[in-house]
Amino acid sequence: MTEPQHILITGTTSGIGLGALKAYRAMGWRVTAINRRKVPALEAQFPDVRFHHFDVRDLESVKKYFQDAAEAKQLPTVYLLSAGINKVDNYGVFSLDVFREVVDTNMMGVLNFVSVAIPYLANSNGVFVVAASTSNIFPNPNCMGYFISKLAVTEIFKRMDRLYRGQGLRFKTLILGPIATNIFVGGQMASKLQMAVRNLITVSVDDTMQPIMRFIQSDRQSLCYPKRSYALFVALSVLTKVYPGFYKGSAPASSAK
Ligand SMILES: NC(=O)c1ccc[n+]([C@@H]2O[C@H](COP(=O)([O-])OP(=O)(O)OC[C@H]3O[C@@H](n4cnc5c(N)ncnc54)[C@H](OP(=O)(O)O)[C@@H]3O)[C@@H](O)[C@H]2O)c1
Repeated sequence: MTEPQHILITGTTSGIGLGALKAYRAMGWRVTAINRRKVPALEAQFPDVRFHHFDVRDLESVKKYFQDAAEAKQLPTVYLLSAGINKVDNYGVFSLDVFREVVDTNMMGVLNFVSVAIPYLANSNGVFVVAASTSNIFPNPNCMGYFISKLAVTEIFKRMDRLYRGQGLRFKTLILGPIATNIFVGGQMASKLQMAVRNLITVSVDDTMQPIMRFIQSDRQSLCYPKRSYALFVALSVLTKVYPGFYKGSAPASSAK
């Protein structure tokens, strides 16, 4: 009998990470979940999932996890690095503390896993997948840390994919949004029109999982989903060049956390 495939997912307490945990378990995959919070009701629901509790910014915990997993010969082959935050850091005044927290989580939290995992995974067909965003194309001017961190991981993964392919490693990017999760639902929009448009283009986590899972198994480096939002954001980025400053931004719901 062949061993089931094994995926590690960061941030499975809600949203895309939780959707992935459910979808991969339903497919019979082995799942390791990395969460900063213990959620007993979630863990009771998935007794076969291996839950670890630490913050993705905590490099020592990342190292400890890989050391233990390698010793136990339980290293996952797929790494869905989904944990992330979106906070307002540039509304009226620029907050370096908030900017740093977002970049540390969304960029360093991803690179912590990548840097520690690479030596363990060379020549083993490992796949890293990062959750980037349509904010790469059309940024919210109130959320500079989010924009920069998602753009950075996108560019880093593009280059790492070329560099490490020969060693059997892939670096894939999800350009997502908007998806109805805690990050976006209930955010304050700049205008009623903006709210109406966002409601129209937002998709559910469930709708997002099949395209993501197909993409992870594919040979492709990036996935833009949903396509209609991607097209809209490309159009809006062109419009910004004609009317600079027309978009005043919005405040994501998660910025209150
Ligand atoms: N929703 C969208 O439209 C969209 C679009 C583009 C990209 N993304 C990206 O998709 C990823 C998942 O977001 P989501 O939309 O599913 O939002 P979400 O429902 O808020 O989920 C975020 C997850 O990340 C975890 N997390 C946050 N900071 C962490 C840390 N320092 N260490 C460990 N875990 C941490 C959260 O844990 P807690 O429960 O403890 O807070 C939660 O499990 C994010 O990287 C986000 O930027 C989302």
